[in-house]
Amino acid sequence: MSELNQIALKIVSNGKGILAADESTPSMDKKFNAIGVEPNPENRLKYREILFTSNGMKDYIGGVILFEETLNQISKSGLPIPQLIENQGTIIGIKVDTGLKKNPESPDENITSGFDGLEDRLKKSYEIGARFTKWRALIKISDKFPTEVAIKSNAIDLAKYASIVQNFNMVPIVEPEVLMEGDHDINQCYEITARLLSECFNQLKLQSVDLSGILLKPNMVVPGIDCQNQSSTNEIAKMTFNCLKDNVPSEVPGIAFLSGGQSEIESTRNLNEINKINDTNFIFTYSYGRALQQSALNYWGKNPDDINNIQKIFNHRAKMNSLSTSGKWAEDIDKINI
Ligand code: 13P
Repeated sequence: MSELNQIALKIVSNGKGILAADESTPSMDKKFNAIGVEPNPENRLKYREILFTSNGMKDYIGGVILFEETLNQISKSGLPIPQLIENQGTIIGIKVDTGLKKNPESPDENITSGFDGLEDRLKKSYEIGARFTKWRALIKISDKFPTEVAIKSNAIDLAKYASIVQNFNMVPIVEPEVLMEGDHDINQCYEITARLLSECFNQLKLQSVDLSGILLKPNMVVPGIDCQNQSSTNEIAKMTFNCLKDNVPSEVPGIAFLSGGQSEIESTRNLNEINKINDTNFIFTYSYGRALQQSALNYWGKNPDDINNIQKIFNHRAKMNSLSTSGKWAEDIDKINI
C-alpha cells in the first residue's frame, strides 16, 4: 500500500469524514454578516477553534480542509492551529485553488485558478503539516451549459493539479462539482455528472495520477434547487450510487461528498441511503462545509461564549453523519436538546 493510499484511507475509514473549514475570506464575510458577527481574522479563528477543539473531531473527523489563513494562525492556548488539529488525530488539508475566473475557452463559463505559485504553496503547507489538498472545479447547468470544452478544460486542470500535488507527497482531493443552482431535473444532473466524472478520470489516467492516492469529492445527483419536480431520497441515492459506480475506477479509495446547498438533514439522509444500497468496496463519506457547520455557526452567532453547547451541536451533527456512513442513521435519533 502506498503512503498516499494510507493517508487517504486514514482520512475516510472507520466512519470518519472530512470537515470542510476552508471557506474563503469573502465567503466567511457573507456567513458572518448574516449572523451579525464582525468579519475579521480574530473572529474567524475564534469560531473555527471551537470546532477544532470539539470532542467530535477525534471520533468523526478524519481530515480538516483549511484555508491558508487558518493554517498560519495560533490558537488561544498558544498552540499553532495545525498542531491543535493533529492532537485530535485529524489530518490537515489545505485548499490550494484560488477561486474561479472566466474560462478563456468559453467566456460565459468558469474555470478554476491556482497554478500560480502552486509549488511554493504546497512546499510550505507540507512543512506546516498538511498531508492533503483540495481543488474545486465548478460546472453550472442551464439551457446552453455546460459546454464540452468547459467539462474538458476543468478535467484537464483537475488532473494537472492532482499530479503536481502527488509529487509533493500529498493526497489531492479532486472536486468536480455540478452546481445545484438552476431548474434542471435529476436526469440532467445525472447526465452532466456522469460526463464530468468520466472526463476527469480520462484525464487523471492520461496524466498518470495514482488513483489509489486521491480522494474524490463529488456532488450527489440531485435536481436543481428551482426544479419543479423534486426527487425522493431513494431516487437520489440510487442515481448517485449508479453514477459513481459506473464512472469511478475501483482503485479510488474514498468518495467524500460535498453538501452543495442541501440542508443538514438532507445531506445526512441521502448519504445514509447511499450507504444502505452500497454493495461495492467504495467508501462513501462526507466532506461537508455547510451541512456540518450551519447549526453550530448560527448558535455561535447568538451565544458566542457558550462553547459547551456550540461544541455539542457540532459533535451531534458529526456523529449523525458518521452513522450515515454505515446506513445506521435514522430521523428519530437525529434530535438534540440545547
Ligand atoms: P459544502 O458542503 O458547503 O458544499 O462545502 C463543501 C466544500 O468544500 C465545497 O468546496
